[in-house]
Amino acid sequence: MGGKMSGRNLIVYLNGNKTGILHESRSSALRFTYTDEAEAPISLAMPLNAVYGDEQTRAFFENLLPEGDLREMVAQAHRVSSNNPFSLLKEIGRDCAGAVVLGDDLLLNDTTSLQELFDVEQFVSKNDAILHYELGMRHSLAGAQFKTTVTIINDTYYIPSPFFPSTHIIKSANPRFQDLVANEFFCMTLARQIGLNVPNVSLLSSGSLVYLLVERFDRLIKSDKIERVHQEDFCQILGYLSSNKYEDEGGPRLIQIVKAIDRYSKQRAADLASLAKLIIFNYLMGNCDGHAKNLSMIHSSTGPYLAPFYDLVATSIYQGRSTRNATSINGVFDLESIDKAAIIKEFDQFGISGKRILALVLRDFKDIVSIGKEVARHKALEPYQATINLIIGNMSKRLDRLAKE
Ligand SMILES: Nc1ncnc2c1ncn2[C@@H]1O[C@H](COP(=O)(O)OP(=O)(O)O)[C@@H](O)[C@H]1O
Ligand SMILES: [Mg+2]
Repeated sequence: MGGKMSGRNLIVYLNGNKTGILHESRSSALRFTYTDEAEAPISLAMPLNAVYGDEQTRAFFENLLPEGDLREMVAQAHRVSSNNPFSLLKEIGRDCAGAVVLGDDLLLNDTTSLQELFDVEQFVSKNDAILHYELGMRHSLAGAQFKTTVTIINDTYYIPSPFFPSTHIIKSANPRFQDLVANEFFCMTLARQIGLNVPNVSLLSSGSLVYLLVERFDRLIKSDKIERVHQEDFCQILGYLSSNKYEDEGGPRLIQIVKAIDRYSKQRAADLASLAKLIIFNYLMGNCDGHAKNLSMIHSSTGPYLAPFYDLVATSIYQGRSTRNATSINGVFDLESIDKAAIIKEFDQFGISGKRILALVLRDFKDIVSIGKEVARHKALEPYQATINLIIGNMSKRLDRLAKE
């Protein structure tokens, strides 16, 4: 029988190592098989020495792709179906989140040298980015925000290439929410200031363009090359498609993330403490988009651990935007209905007293409002004071609510 022969194959490299074959059958079923050379698994949910069927394979690979309009746009640019992850990854799977690269046998022979990027504004503008997808800048990152990637070495911007993958993500201003990148810059910077592990971010402009430059934590710049560090998000770890990332659409609950950290992390106590801090931070900021794809684990040679936090945005300030949380706190979804009791009950599932966890987090966050006001004085945030003040005002109210009850 045709078996393995019919259908299509893509080679999956991990850290430059030919690790597996992604196979698509003629009826579009996916299958993943590790090669004999495989040294490390692509997913915590997919240990070596096994073959994975459609469900597990699809969950891992589909989650590498952009979502929403962005996925449509990429599909159109490459003239492939937006609902075919294999076709999409065949086109853009050259520079993904983590250390996986998808392509053919010739891929690793491509030593195209770096091309300097002179006009960031043009590069980032929407039309041009489509062009870059067509021309071969084939990165695939999750999310629906408009974004592109760059390689920055010694402060010089380059167009990423196979040997020099992107080191930074550029998120450009959203036409519907002009202040979104400033909002994210504020949240990420405040998170860092109060001790959460987040990547370096800068709010920059080039001509009329305002953009957020995010340092990738899954890249290591060595003297002669750029190494990838593997990571995967919690939809991948837990086996959910990106379309099910929200809890009320059948997506993961916080307890599943807690259990996965408990099961896989090499530093479970520290990671659970960080997760508790993130949950309170998101609550205070009014970030309702803390779903399972906005949280990842790093695969390191010494074991997996929680990746730095990203995509922290005060989403609730946008009128018409729902204040329904991506994940519930003890079954409560609405941001303004979450109370101390719900948080404590949720934290009780972490393995130690929820009351104690909350007390520790609140102690760490006791100066968050004044630190927030400090961050708001950042020069780049000057034009966005109304937005930032709104976020700080809401944060202050929610903090009072938690402190009082
Ligand atoms: N600093 C970073 N380093 C490495 N990977 C990142 C970083 N920030 C985000 N990512 C990856 O890129 C994806 C998209 O980024 P994100 O900021 O969540 O965009 P969006 O706002 O569109 O959801 C994330 O799901 C994650 O896999
Ligand atoms: Mg995201």
